Amino acid sequence: MTIITISIISYFLGNISASYLIAKYKGGIDIRKHGSGNAGATNVLRTLGAKAGLLAFAGDALKGVFAVVLGKLIGHDDGQIAAGIFVVIGHNWPMLLGFKGGKGIATTIGVMIAINPYIVAAIVPIGLIIIFITKYVSLASIIGMGIFPITMLMTKQPGKLVLFSFLLSAMAIYRHKSNLSKLIAGTEAKIGDKVER
Ligand code: G3P
Repeated sequence: MTIITISIISYFLGNISASYLIAKYKGGIDIRKHGSGNAGATNVLRTLGAKAGLLAFAGDALKGVFAVVLGKLIGHDDGQIAAGIFVVIGHNWPMLLGFKGGKGIATTIGVMIAINPYIVAAIVPIGLIIIFITKYVSLASIIGMGIFPITMLMTKQPGKLVLFSFLLSAMAIYRHKSNLSKLIAGTEAKIGDKVER
């Protein structure tokens, strides 16, 4: 029962999208109708600028941290896992926003900061280097999320957390399928590319 309650709370917490809200109330737009159409920090950055993008990233990451801390408090180890999964599902497929949300990278980073910050400290710099070299945030997200469960496995994390990381990784990569097609076609937007509002 506790795990179901945590899952429901986390799912609706995930529905509260900082990217959507910042674009709506600071920029006066529905971010899902601009740029890549994604309700995520990268799209807020390309549409409304760096400050709004950073705020969106921080807000969406923070809700991941908050959900996991709450989940752990109420439901211990299984509670934090349920919270981590459902806050990302809630961000990606938010019922309150017609199931059209983000791709879950910032929220997953927040979830992992609360569960194991060392893993984040190992992977985020790799992502930043990929962005610096290629200028593709999506490529960094895909590679970062791809190596995430491998890192969990190699550093001998508890079995449940390894499985959890494979699930988060699969969700994130699945959400990037349109980015993958564009990367292959050479039409993916680079960081710094501006879009019309
Ligand atoms: O975290 C999302 C990023 O990897 C891609 O975003 O807007 O370019 O699809 P976007």
